[in-house]
Amino acid sequence: MPIPIRDTFPTDRDDLIVQVTDDGSLTLVKTTDNDAFHSGCGALAETDHVYCKGSGVADRLARRQHTRVLEVGLGTAMGMLLTVDAAIASGTSLEYVAIETDWISGSTLQYLRPRDWVAKTDLVDAYMDFRKTLPDVVPGGTYRWCVDSQRLVTIEVADVRQWSLSAEGQFDAIYYDPFCPESAPDLWTPSSMKAMRGLIAADGKLATYSCSRTVRNALEQSGWGVARVPGPIGGKREVIVATPV
Ligand SMILES: C[S@@+](CC[C@H](N)C(=O)[O-])C[C@H]1O[C@@H](n2cnc3c(N)ncnc32)[C@H](O)[C@@H]1O
Repeated sequence: MPIPIRDTFPTDRDDLIVQVTDDGSLTLVKTTDNDAFHSGCGALAETDHVYCKGSGVADRLARRQHTRVLEVGLGTAMGMLLTVDAAIASGTSLEYVAIETDWISGSTLQYLRPRDWVAKTDLVDAYMDFRKTLPDVVPGGTYRWCVDSQRLVTIEVADVRQWSLSAEGQFDAIYYDPFCPESAPDLWTPSSMKAMRGLIAADGKLATYSCSRTVRNALEQSGWGVARVPGPIGGKREVIVATPV
């Protein structure tokens, strides 16, 4: 099937445009190489289905189990905001660590209408307030957003290839969401996946959108069992949920 032409509009950055995805939610696309932050078939649908549900986080939060999430590629912060929103809704404690090289500023994020993403819209306002305390281009380092007494978000402005987790412990879920293997092959190698393997709890899950043979091989060669599961309605046919073996 031909790829549909989707509406786009500019942002305050020359290298990023907004794309209207098929479920009506908005995402970013890089003008330099056309890399999209989400599936054009639906940014919200992908985030909810592949990451929140696929990783087991939605179930854990619904069961009120304390949950630790690692996200590789904070991007628009959609995955983070949806997860924190779900944790608040269920009254569950959450530790969320996201690694990102290029942390989108509040002014750029506004173009995506993030208040449409979550039930608790004042969560987005609070995130915007937090983000505004930092410069548009944030220097490398660790930044903590204490959402409330039970929810803590840590943003690591760093290249995941150089980042090492010190005493933060293990994660119940990894949202593995850097750009695709074609544009960022070194983030999908066996050694990258081995680094992720060292960070997952024994009953944890890694969720990712790429189902390519290269990605499955890299996971299998580094201590992961790989399951191909159905993708979101209208989106990719299959996505990956990996568990430690
Ligand atoms: C597909 S987007 C992530 C979308 C995100 N999960 C969301 O909810 O919007 C990929 C992100 O990974 C970041 N990224 C790319 N290479 C990276 C690296 N080596 N280390 C850390 N982050 C990286 C990019 O800057 C981009 O924001």
